[in-house]
Amino acid sequence: MQYQEASEILAQHEQSQILRFWDSLKEEDRECLLKQISDLDFNSIAKMRNLLEQRDVEARSPQTGEMTPAPVSELHGEAHDAAARIGSFEIRNGRVAAIVVAGGQGSRLGYDGPKGCYPIGPVSNAPLFYFHARKLLGLGKEWGSTIPLYVMTSQTNDAETRKFFKDNAYFGLNANDVFFFSQGMWPALTPEGEIILEEPARIFLSPDGHGGTLAALDKSGALADMKKRGITTVFYFQVDNPLVEVADPAFIGFHLQNLADISIKVCAKRSPEEGLGVAVERDGKIEIVEYTEFTTEQKNERTPSGELRYKYGSVAIHVFSTAFLKREAKAGLPIHLAFKKVPYCGDNGKTVAPSKPNAYKFEKFIFDTLADSKATCCLAFDRADEFAPVKNAEGNDSPATCKAALVAKWARWLEACGVKIPRGADGAPLHNIEIDPAFAHSEHALKLRLASSKIKIDTSKDILLS
Ligand code: UD1
Repeated sequence: MQYQEASEILAQHEQSQILRFWDSLKEEDRECLLKQISDLDFNSIAKMRNLLEQRDVEARSPQTGEMTPAPVSELHGEAHDAAARIGSFEIRNGRVAAIVVAGGQGSRLGYDGPKGCYPIGPVSNAPLFYFHARKLLGLGKEWGSTIPLYVMTSQTNDAETRKFFKDNAYFGLNANDVFFFSQGMWPALTPEGEIILEEPARIFLSPDGHGGTLAALDKSGALADMKKRGITTVFYFQVDNPLVEVADPAFIGFHLQNLADISIKVCAKRSPEEGLGVAVERDGKIEIVEYTEFTTEQKNERTPSGELRYKYGSVAIHVFSTAFLKREAKAGLPIHLAFKKVPYCGDNGKTVAPSKPNAYKFEKFIFDTLADSKATCCLAFDRADEFAPVKNAEGNDSPATCKAALVAKWARWLEACGVKIPRGADGAPLHNIEIDPAFAHSEHALKLRLASSKIKIDTSKDILLS
């Protein structure tokens, strides 16, 4: 794209301010800026501006209609085992893949790097990516098959993420079975709808939300790769939760038993204010209403027995059929907005880091695909076993709470295998425990592993089984 064309397009979209430093820019900076301008998606930007105009209008909120809590199933005993048999059969036949969304910026955690590189192993300090990849390795070994991993990155962390996997020998996975793809990037807008420059020759861009997964899967060739491999079912999860039972056979089997387009794992919220999207039903369809879009009253509504009415939150663990993903890749998702602190270029050309929110960022959410799902199921699980995300530097959902949850889970597994774990007065194990998921990816796998080996576990100090 040349200057003239860029200037005309921007004028047409009332965004000429993007070129206000043009005369003072070096040639290479001009090229970068023109490239950014040519990549702008003005259709979406028009939708964002519309959204800004309506931002004070309640009608936008998806929670205003007739709404009830979503029906939620549980799997126990024979029902669980039957579902797990179906899921394992699919895994054994190579029809299951996993997608981890890792394009976000981890700003709440304050970690400078791809979140998946964050060290979380309670004994080894191994990173989040390690636990996800090793689980797939463990499951693949158990079933004599491969579960390919699709890693969604964004422009801000793609190169670093690829390098991290390479430097760590793909955590034991075959490099050909790890497919990286990058999500789209969107500009931020001032309340007046102007695109923000971060530097004189750089438009501020941020990832387009995990809803961007769909278009990115298509554009990158990941969907075609899945087709080539004969993948029909995809397990989707977020990078920040090392407790997740990646490619959980029972969940996959449950999804298939119900002929669902999407299945959602949900758990009871810790408190009304917990930052989980809430599973609801409206007009016969399951929806997830994001916590930021639920009113305080709705969050606190109780049943006559005193339980939270909207008790179940989605932890962003889903199973999709690939046929549905393919259909949805072409469908436009709604756009959500949030008022945030966005660095901007002052008139003197210097970047200003605002101390309070100054602009709108926009995102698409993967769960908005639920509107198009012909069959959706929600499966409840026990959060102690599967959900302890690393979101904040301290307090709830922090590295400390996540490590404690990992140690507690592995302690329960070891105890179920007959190992006596010393515990303190508060009931927590006295020492750190870590089990490499490729050593044992489940309690059952650990039982088999310990029974067939001569490993002596010294419980008087930290335990690392790998
Ligand atoms: C998210 C979900 C929320 C769910 C909670 C469970 C949204 C909007 N909400 O909230 O419903 O209950 O997790 O933990 O996601 N990511 C990308 N690209 C992006 C944005 C995010 O890949 O553009 C990835 C992140 O890397 C991360 C995940 O999505 O793995 C979640 O992002 P985050 O911003 O932490 O979401 P939450 O607000 O915690």
